[in-house]
This record gives sequence, C-alpha cells and structure tokens, in this order.
Amino acid sequence: MRLNDARILLTGASGGLGQALAQALAREGASLLLVGRDQNKLAALALGLPGGARSIATLAVDLNQPAEVARLAREAENFGVDVLINNAGINAFGLFEQRDWSCAADVLETNLAAPMRLTHALLPLLRARDHAAILNIGSTFGSLPFPGFIAYSSAKAGMKGFSQALRRELSDSQVEVLYVAPRAIDTPLNSAAVNALNAELGSRHDTPERAARQIIAALAAGRSETHLGFPERLFAWINGVAPALIDRALAPKLAVVKRHANVASPGSR
Ligand SMILES: NC(=O)c1ccc[n+]([C@@H]2O[C@H](COP(=O)([O-])OP(=O)(O)OC[C@H]3O[C@@H](n4cnc5c(N)ncnc54)[C@H](OP(=O)(O)O)[C@@H]3O)[C@@H](O)[C@H]2O)c1
Repeated sequence: MRLNDARILLTGASGGLGQALAQALAREGASLLLVGRDQNKLAALALGLPGGARSIATLAVDLNQPAEVARLAREAENFGVDVLINNAGINAFGLFEQRDWSCAADVLETNLAAPMRLTHALLPLLRARDHAAILNIGSTFGSLPFPGFIAYSSAKAGMKGFSQALRRELSDSQVEVLYVAPRAIDTPLNSAAVNALNAELGSRHDTPERAARQIIAALAAGRSETHLGFPERLFAWINGVAPALIDRALAPKLAVVKRHANVASPGSR
C-alpha cells in the first residue's frame, strides 16, 4: 500500500495510539479522515499535525450508535476512503464476576461489534476502489487471553478471528485485510491499576510512537498478521499450540492480578 496517496479513515484518532498514528501517517503524505467522539480534541489534533498530509478532515462519531456509523459511511464516501483503520477501543480491568454485565457489554460492543459494523458499512465503498485495505488493531491479549481482562481478551480474540475470516472471504478481491496486535502501550487506555499490575508483572510496553511506526510498516508492506514485541509474540504462539503451558505459567500470577483488580474495583473479593 502506497501511503502517500492513501485516503485513510482512522478511528480512535484522538487517543494515545491514534494521535501517534495520525502524526506518522500525515508525515507519510496520506490524506486523513480522523474519527473520535470529541470534536474539540479532533480539531486540536488536526491543527497540530505535521505538514505533508494531502488533506485532513475530522468527524465526531460514537461508533456504538448505528445511525452515526451510517453518517460516517456517507462522509467516508465523500472523502474517497480507501483504507480503514479500526483503532478505537476501550479497556476494563477487573474480575469478571465482580463487574456488572454492562461493563463487559460495553467492551464487546466497542472493541468488536462496532469495528465489524463499520467495516460492513464501508465494504461496498472499499470494493469499488482499485486497491483498498482494512487494518484491525488487536492486542497481545487477543492471542494470550489474560485474567482480569476477560471481556477485553474475548473482544480482541474476536478481532483476530474477524480479520482472518474476512481476509479469506475477500481473498478474490482487491481489499487487503490486516491485523496488528500491539503489546502494552503507554496511553490513557491503561488505568493506574493496570500500569501498577504491568509494573509488578514486569510486562514490557511501547511508546505510542514506536507502536505506530511498526503498525504503519505492517500497513505499507501489506503484512496480513503482525504481533508486536518479544517475548509477547512467543507466548502468544505457545498459547496457540499448547494453552495448558500458559495456564500453568499464569496460575502463580493470579494472586497479583486479584490484588490489583481489588484496587481497581474496591469492594470486590
Ligand atoms: N494502550 C495499550 O496498552 C494497548 C495495547 C494493545 C492494543 N491497544 C489497542 O490500541 C487501540 C487504541 O488504544 P489507545 O491505547 O490509543 O486507547 P485510548 O488512548 O484510550 O484511545 C481510545 C480511542 O478510542 C476512541 N473511542 C472509544 N470509544 C469510542 C466510541 N464508542 N466511539 C468512537 N470512538 C471511541 C476514543 O475516543 P474519545 O477520545 O472520544 O474518547 C479514543 O480516540 C485500541 O484498539 C486498543 O485496544 C492498546
């Protein structure tokens, strides 16, 4: 994919990774349709982007509202979008049984159903292009499901499955479907409790700029599936072939996860 003449719809543009992606894509000369929920944040981001972008537009949309997604699809058509980056997402750390169902439902809706809905709405447009791409942002937890992150891990595993199935369904078309799974990134997605958990577990993390560079390299190269970080990609692979080994490796860490989850959600056991 040649980024300097790509016309890219980026969701979650106002977030930590989204801003870094927008900066890097603008430097590559791509045209950007930046999407988030807060028009002020999007306007500030657009103003601060480095020169190089051919054109920049912003649109405030709640991706969990089907009517707003339909409005976004019309804007995407006007903008001439040929690349969709499904990057918007939320997190919820806590023990599954201690949290209201609405918490899991929000994560599943935002991190899985919403990107599938948006992709469905844009497919006729993307199919009409000479060359198009859909890039789904997953997570290490999509391949290495983690206690304390049940809904998030489930949604990201769903994003991986969605990406693989869609790639196979579109394999006779000119639409590429790519999936990138970052490891932890220093962004507002992670609460203080998650950062404390990661520090105690010694989990490695990337700056948003480093993660964005690797994601854009995967997009430019058309790499179908990319897992960022080592040893995270090794653990994800082991989980795929021998999940019982990962069950055993994570069991001693459960007490640590529970302690931090209790701080995140006081009153839970
Ligand atoms: N940070 C990490 O450790 C990490 C690791 C692996 C993967 N990821 C993935 O990377 C992606 C970006 O995350 P991030 O770290 O940049 O998170 P972030 O800083 O919290 O940003 C999240 C973005 O998603 C947008 N968003 C959330 N709900 C939305 C909705 N209903 N409608 C429209 N936009 C919505 C937010 O918009 P507002 O500004 O309007 O709230 C914001 O732009 C996510 O898919 C995340 O799962 C993150």
